[in-house]
Amino acid sequence: MGSENNEQKAALTLSNLRQARYLLHYLKPHAWKFLLALGCIMLSAFSTSLFPFLLGKMIDAAMPGAATPAQLSPWNIPLGQWIRTVSWSLNTILLLVFVQLSLQTLFSYGRIYLLTEVGEKVVARLRTDVYACILSKPMSFFAERRVGELTSRLAADLSLIQDTVSFTLAELLRGVFTLVIGLVFIFIISFKLALVMLSVVPLLAVLAVVFGLRIRRMARKVQDHLADSNTIVQETLSGIAVVKSFTGERAAIRRYRQSILRAAVTAINNARFRGAFVSFMIFSVFGTIAVVIWYGVNLIQQGELSIGLLIMFVIFSVFVGGTFAGFAEMFSQLQKTLGATQQVRHLLFSGGEIELSEPDESVQPSWKLKGAVRFDNVSFTYPSRPEVPVLRHISFELRPGERVALVGPSGAGKSTIAALLLRFYDPDSGTIIFDGRNARTFPLHQLRRQIALVPQDVILFGGTIYENIAMGNEQATAQQIEEAARFAHAHEFIERFPQGYQTVVGERGMKLSGGQRQRIAIARAILKDPVILILDEATSSLDSESEWLVQEALERLMQNRTSLVIAHRLSTVRHANRILVLDKGMLVEAGTHEELMSLPHGLYRRMVEIQAEEVG
Ligand SMILES: Nc1ncnc2c1ncn2[C@@H]1O[C@H](COP(=O)(O)OP(=O)(O)O)[C@@H](O)[C@H]1O
Ligand SMILES: [Mg+2]
Repeated sequence: MGSENNEQKAALTLSNLRQARYLLHYLKPHAWKFLLALGCIMLSAFSTSLFPFLLGKMIDAAMPGAATPAQLSPWNIPLGQWIRTVSWSLNTILLLVFVQLSLQTLFSYGRIYLLTEVGEKVVARLRTDVYACILSKPMSFFAERRVGELTSRLAADLSLIQDTVSFTLAELLRGVFTLVIGLVFIFIISFKLALVMLSVVPLLAVLAVVFGLRIRRMARKVQDHLADSNTIVQETLSGIAVVKSFTGERAAIRRYRQSILRAAVTAINNARFRGAFVSFMIFSVFGTIAVVIWYGVNLIQQGELSIGLLIMFVIFSVFVGGTFAGFAEMFSQLQKTLGATQQVRHLLFSGGEIELSEPDESVQPSWKLKGAVRFDNVSFTYPSRPEVPVLRHISFELRPGERVALVGPSGAGKSTIAALLLRFYDPDSGTIIFDGRNARTFPLHQLRRQIALVPQDVILFGGTIYENIAMGNEQATAQQIEEAARFAHAHEFIERFPQGYQTVVGERGMKLSGGQRQRIAIARAILKDPVILILDEATSSLDSESEWLVQEALERLMQNRTSLVIAHRLSTVRHANRILVLDKGMLVEAGTHEELMSLPHGLYRRMVEIQAEEVG
C-alpha cells in the first residue's frame, strides 16, 4: 500500500559520481557514437537559438533601418554589434530560417537515434552481466527470499539507467547549452533589459521548483489515503460473507466514508495551496512579461532597441526560464539514476564467490573421478536457518560403482546430503571426500560436471526437447542426443510429437507428463555421462505405468556408476548394495535390506511395514 516506489536517490556528490564510473566501461565501445551524439546536441541547441534570432530579424525587415544604434553596454563586442545590426531582405531571412530548420532536423534526428542506440546497447550488456552475475552466485544467495525482489528491483534500476543514458543526460546537456546561449543573446540584445529580466526569472524558477515538489508530495498523500479506502473495499468485498453475517454493512460504509472524506479533505487543502501558487505564478510570469515589454518599448522609443530585437529577447527569456524550471526534474532523475547505479554496482562488484564455468571447460584428467565418496563426520546447518541443525555427524561411504539407497522420513535431510555432494553448500564441520581428496579442493565445475542429479520434479526450460536434452552436454551431436533419448525410453514418445525433437516445451510450450519429463531428465543425465549419480525421489510422483518405464531407464542409467538413490517408496531400493536410514539429520541404521529387516525395532523395518499396509 502507499505509492512510495522503491527508487532510491543518491546525492549528486563527487564520490557518488566516481562510484558510477564503472558505467564508462560499458560506454567505451560506443564512445564515438556517444561523442557524435553530444555534438548533435550541442549543434541542435545552437541552431534552436538561431530561430528567435531569425524571427526577430524578419520582423525588423518590415521596418528597414529601424533604430539599432551602438548601445552603451559592456557587451559591445563586434559579434554583439553584428547580431544587433545585421539586416537581410525578407526572402533571404525565410531562406535562412529553412536552412536553420533543416540543420536542426538533422541534428535532432542524429541525437535521438544515436543516443537511443548507445543507451540500448549499454543496457543490454549491463543486463546480461547482471543476469550472469546473479546466476553465478552460490546457492546460499538464492536461499534468501529477497532474490525475487532484488531482481525486479534491478530491472527497474537498469531501465532508469537506460533512460538516463538515452534521454536525461542529453536533456541536461541541451539545457545547459540553451541556457548559456540564451543568456549570451539576451545580454547582447540589451544589457539593461537582461538585468531586469534576470532579477525576477531565476527567483520564479526556484519558487516553481520548491512549490512544485511540495505540491507533488501533497498529491501523494491524497493517493495514499485513496489507497487506504481501496483496501477497505477489497477487504470487505472479499470477506463479504463475514460482513453480512455480522450485519456489518453499516460499519463498513462508515469506515469507508471516513477514509474517503480524509482523502477529500486532504485534496481540498492541497487545492488551497495549489490555487494560491498557480495564481501567484500567473501573476508573476505575466507581470514580468508585461514589465519587460514595457521597459523594452521604452527602450525602443529611446532608439536603443528595435521591435525585432525585443521579440528576440522575449523568446530567449522564455527559453531561459523554461530551462531553469526543467533542471529540477532532471536533477531528481539523475539522483535516482545514481541510486540505481549503486544498486547495480553493489551486485556486480560485491565480493563473494562467483561460480561461473568457462565455455568449454571439460573435465581435466587430474580431476577425473573414479566414483568413491565418503562423508566423514559431516554436520550442516542452512545459512538461512542457523538455529536448526539439519545434518549431524554423518559418516558413510560409497565405493566406485556401488548403489546405495538413502531413506528416511521427509525432512530427515536426504536432499540436503545431495546438495552437499554437489557442493551447493559446504559442511559446517567434517569433510566430504571424493577419491580420497577433500571436496573443497576441487574446482566447482570440475566436480559438478561429473555428478548428475535427477530430481523428483524435473524442470524443463523454455526451448525444444532437443535443447533440453543437450543441456547435459552442449557439444553432443544430434545422433548422440537421439541415442540418449532411446536409452532413456524417451525416443518413442518424442517421435510421436509432430515436431519431434524440435517440439517446444516449458512454460509456454507443450505440457509433458511427469514420466515424460523424467525420461527427458534421464536422457540429459545419460548425455552428461556422470561418474556419480544422485536420484532424489526420481520416481515418487509418477503413476505406476510410467514408473515402470522410468524405473527401467534409471536401471540402465545406474549401470557402472556410483549411485545414491534417495527413495520414498522402499520397494525400489530393496536391491541396493546398502541402505542408509536417515532420521532427523542423523544416520540411524545402515545395511542391506535383509539386515535392516532383521532389526526388531528398526526404523527401516517400521517404514516397510507401514508402506506394506498402505498398499495392501
Ligand atoms: N534451502 C533451505 N534452507 C533452509 N532450510 C532448509 C532448506 N532446504 C531444506 N531445509 C530444511 O532442512 C531439513 C531437511 O530437508 P531435506 O534435506 O529437504 O529433507 P528430505 O529431503 O529428507 O525430505 C528440513 O527441516 C528442511 O526444512
Ligand atoms: Mg527431499
